[in-house]
Amino acid sequence: MKKILLCPPDFYDIEYEINPWMNTNNKVDKERVRDEYEQLKEVYLKLGAEVLEIPAEPGLPDMVYAANFGFPKGNTFIKSNFRFLQRRPEADFAAKFLEAKGFMTYSLPQNVFFEGQGDLLKINGKYFFGWGKRSSFSAKKYLAEKLTGEILDFKLNDPYFYHLDMSLGPLDKNTLVINPRSFLKKDLEKLYKNFKNIIETSIDDNKMMACNLVVVGHTVVIGKGISGQLKKDIEKYGFEVREVQMDEYRKGGGSVKCNTLEFF
Ligand code: ARG
Repeated sequence: MKKILLCPPDFYDIEYEINPWMNTNNKVDKERVRDEYEQLKEVYLKLGAEVLEIPAEPGLPDMVYAANFGFPKGNTFIKSNFRFLQRRPEADFAAKFLEAKGFMTYSLPQNVFFEGQGDLLKINGKYFFGWGKRSSFSAKKYLAEKLTGEILDFKLNDPYFYHLDMSLGPLDKNTLVINPRSFLKKDLEKLYKNFKNIIETSIDDNKMMACNLVVVGHTVVIGKGISGQLKKDIEKYGFEVREVQMDEYRKGGGSVKCNTLEFF
């Protein structure tokens, strides 16, 4: 059964700007974001996932993006070192929460940035690591100490897609949704070498953060508003598409995957 961690939007708002999607004048509608959260949780539960919830902390408006807390692997929690000061305490709260559940925390050196599942995705025993915007390239060697399996790295190109999970959505071991504009040519080639089926998103789908998806069984959970074409492309490979409203979360620069820390 798939196990995930979410954080409710009790204190979520746009209080600073650390990515180009954020605008402090574009405040969050508290009621709507609560609905979006409950709907996402409901979808996961209905699909049979186990959902853990970490209590939100006052003063940490971005804590809703649980994917960035770190990377849980077995009973080890590889804790994030956030690039921006505003988010740093989130990783401590997550580590404490998971330690109480029996996890052992592994930390990278303080000057090495790492933003968890925002930049590290696991696909079929291999790891895909994004760097250059948030995580540091040097994190790769520390990750290699804790992970078994090859780590392929990708330099991120576009300030709007500052985490790897904004540009790469794995569906299964053969199939990926990608935003081709985020990658250097040599990195795109790496992706095409490793995957049989690659669905490239359009500019409009990128505005909806379409790559920022989570797969539970054969269902792709994705933000509402993606194109009919992308939906068809995903269905062609045998998946069901479950769209959820993510408008309030996009104001902070995140969608479905950003909200979801997955356990491996
Ligand atoms: N406002 C957050 C930040 O800029 C959004 C994080 C999105 N998370 C993700 N996994 N892409 O850090």
